Amino acid sequence: MSRSDLVSSLRDVSPTILPSMLMCDFGNLASEIETLEEAGVSALHLDVMDGVYVPNFTYGMTIVAAIRKLTELPLDVHLMMVSPEKYIPAFADAGADLITFHVETVDDPLAVVKQIHDQDVAAGVAINLATPVSEIASVLPEADMALVMSINAGFGGQAFNESALKKLDQIRSLPGGKDILLQIDGGINASTIKSATDHGTQLLVVGSAIFKQDDYGKAIETMMSEVTSS
Ligand code: DX5
Ligand code: ZN
Repeated sequence: MSRSDLVSSLRDVSPTILPSMLMCDFGNLASEIETLEEAGVSALHLDVMDGVYVPNFTYGMTIVAAIRKLTELPLDVHLMMVSPEKYIPAFADAGADLITFHVETVDDPLAVVKQIHDQDVAAGVAINLATPVSEIASVLPEADMALVMSINAGFGGQAFNESALKKLDQIRSLPGGKDILLQIDGGINASTIKSATDHGTQLLVVGSAIFKQDDYGKAIETMMSEVTSS
């Protein structure tokens, strides 16, 4: 999918839940993805961790490419790694539709956004829990998405940190912040989802609140009912 098609399709379906595949059953990837497709999800969130930037290790482009073969859903690749610029072409080739890097891991975030766009892939820029919004202010007019971490990046299953909510508001008030897609990641569940959408979040990454449930579809429906009911 082209970059502009992806951005408008995500905008159209927002607010929407993007399952984080960190906790899925990798031995049964095809059926896990089929279940999520049947539940009507709009994209999959793939967490790439290098054991250096974050104290956890997951997977790289091989798994992204394997998932690409299993689904036409857009793939939202969240890079938690040092030197992400070295691997952007490889993740684009593997089938990423959106690539998000952490501002803490690069010297020149604008150049990395441009590098991602050169692959006709949408570009996201992420801030970890301790990073202020000012660190991404200059990138907002160029990036397609801003990801605000509501936990310390690295592991699923952590509690939502409310300090993220203020950052969402701050981003919206900055130049370029009105139009950018806003994503939140970490600790989103039926109790926290509404606070995130009330502060303008369009893309809600959810790991344990889906994958620790028996019925993924029902878990997604329950969370969505929190944001759609008045
Ligand atoms: C953690 C990852 C998240 C994680 C979210 O660093 O970026 O995507 O899987 O998991 P939950 O929803 O359990 O916090
Ligand atoms: Zn993530």
